Amino acid sequence: MEVLHTIEDFRRSRADIAGTLGLVPTMGFLHAGHLALVRRARAENDAVAVSIFVNPTQFGPNEDLAAYPRDIERDLSLLERERVDLVFNPSSQELYPPGFNSYVDPGTVSEPLEGARRPGHFRGVATVVAKLLNVVQPDRAYFGQKDGQQMRVIERMAQDLDFAVEIVAVPTVREQDGLAMSSRNTYLKPDERQAAPCLFKGLMSAQDRWCTGERDAATLRRLVMEVIEAEPRVQLDYVSVADSATLAEIDGRATGPVMVSAAVRVGKARLIDNVVLSDDGG
Ligand code: PAJ
Repeated sequence: MEVLHTIEDFRRSRADIAGTLGLVPTMGFLHAGHLALVRRARAENDAVAVSIFVNPTQFGPNEDLAAYPRDIERDLSLLERERVDLVFNPSSQELYPPGFNSYVDPGTVSEPLEGARRPGHFRGVATVVAKLLNVVQPDRAYFGQKDGQQMRVIERMAQDLDFAVEIVAVPTVREQDGLAMSSRNTYLKPDERQAAPCLFKGLMSAQDRWCTGERDAATLRRLVMEVIEAEPRVQLDYVSVADSATLAEIDGRATGPVMVSAAVRVGKARLIDNVVLSDDGG
């Protein structure tokens, strides 16, 4: 496994790769969710590249950029075990040198939900993913359905801007009690960790009713809300029932596929999760 810190060094190593290359972009502090993306990339490509970069442009001024968990040595040993070929681990200076002044504007799919609460977040995500795709030049790039809106923003960008890459969505990896794996779960104190699965339980309550025929968007939203609001240690931010492609909020009767998503605050952590419901099943 080669670990490269500059664009120039990465490009030189990339040029030696024969066959297809899969890219898994991450911000590090890897967990089983990230490793599911790496394994999928390993299975579908001749070679695998992983980027580890805590991207400053996707954090708001009052967000957790400085506190974001980091453990590069542990990350590298996990990736070594997964037989990753190339790791790209640039500094902020390398990706955003003095004078950097061009951004990708990700359009309406980035406006609701996380975009409304985290102004500029998806502009930062789209910009860094565009840069990583340009540097790494992969055949396929792997993203988690856990960050459902991010997935849509990236799919839209790759299609609209003619990136010659296949964007692959990987299902959410969860703890045994349903909590979606996330680097930010490390912010949870033990009692907060116990309360956090209500986010997934709320989404499951909507999914169960969807499977028995419920299609009223307001009813589905209320089901999620009731489960989360019953947990006093968890503050609800939003619940959404939206068209799964455009993320436009649905009024009245829903037809699948819809994305039911929610965000909560538990102590210092802000957690998000979603399920996609289609008319041919759950
Ligand atoms: P990060 O939060 O490190 O996540 C990297 C990738 O892993 C993302 O595609 C994310 O959706 C996926 N992922 C995280 N938790 C997962 C889980 N429990 N199951 C499946 N996949 C999961 O998302 C980012 O970094 C950044 O925004 C990035 C795309 C790297 C741009 O900076």
